[in-house]
Amino acid sequence: MDATEVLQEIARQVRECNKCSLHFSRKNGVPGEGPVNAEVMLIGEGPGFYENEQGRPFVGSAGKFLDELLEKGGLKRSEVFITNVVKCRPPGNRDPMPEELSACNDYLEEQIRTINPLAIVTLGRFSMARFIPNVRISDVHGKPRWVKDRLIIPMYHPAAALHQPSLKTTVERDFAHLAEWLDQAHRKRDVQAAPVQPLAVPEKPEDEKPTQLSLF
Ligand code: URA
Ligand code: SF4
Repeated sequence: MDATEVLQEIARQVRECNKCSLHFSRKNGVPGEGPVNAEVMLIGEGPGFYENEQGRPFVGSAGKFLDELLEKGGLKRSEVFITNVVKCRPPGNRDPMPEELSACNDYLEEQIRTINPLAIVTLGRFSMARFIPNVRISDVHGKPRWVKDRLIIPMYHPAAALHQPSLKTTVERDFAHLAEWLDQAHRKRDVQAAPVQPLAVPEKPEDEKPTQLSLF
């Protein structure tokens, strides 16, 4: 199976899945969508009303806001992969429960392995906690960090931000840095991938060396 087929197979399994009790109330499982070679993956919490109706992620009001946020970050929705930590709608949009998160985790894990994104933007605290445990989102939002060769960028959930004017400004400001962080992540990856310089090549003067990398 190539990577595209793996993603299709995950999507097929999600739509038929009954590994946790969320399958009783769902209308459509929402596996997620986006290009298989996406550099950036966004991970939300779980499908809401419209997502459950349509089987697609972030198609309601939070989704419209997410489109605006992506634009501020210099990204188009069509170039990112968007999914959630649970693939079926928690009834009444309640928080996902620990047993639902763990039952659904294999799908997300396999999506990440297949897409192998350079950066993951977590939307909200459940998604953040999967990569950065034991922190508060109010402390770490908008502060990228490397976790196993991937840049993890914790952001407030767009739905939460939509209903709280102060958070809305904050999440907009955080997303406005996205292009710059991705640029730095590219450079760090390219430096690591570059062959070791032969000894004959003169050292670059101190002031030409990249300094941004120390940010991470
Ligand atoms: N909120 C989420 O966390 N995910 C969606 O897909 C839609 C709204
Ligand atoms: Fe399966 Fe995940 Fe849906 Fe639970 S939420 S039924 S584990 S796809």
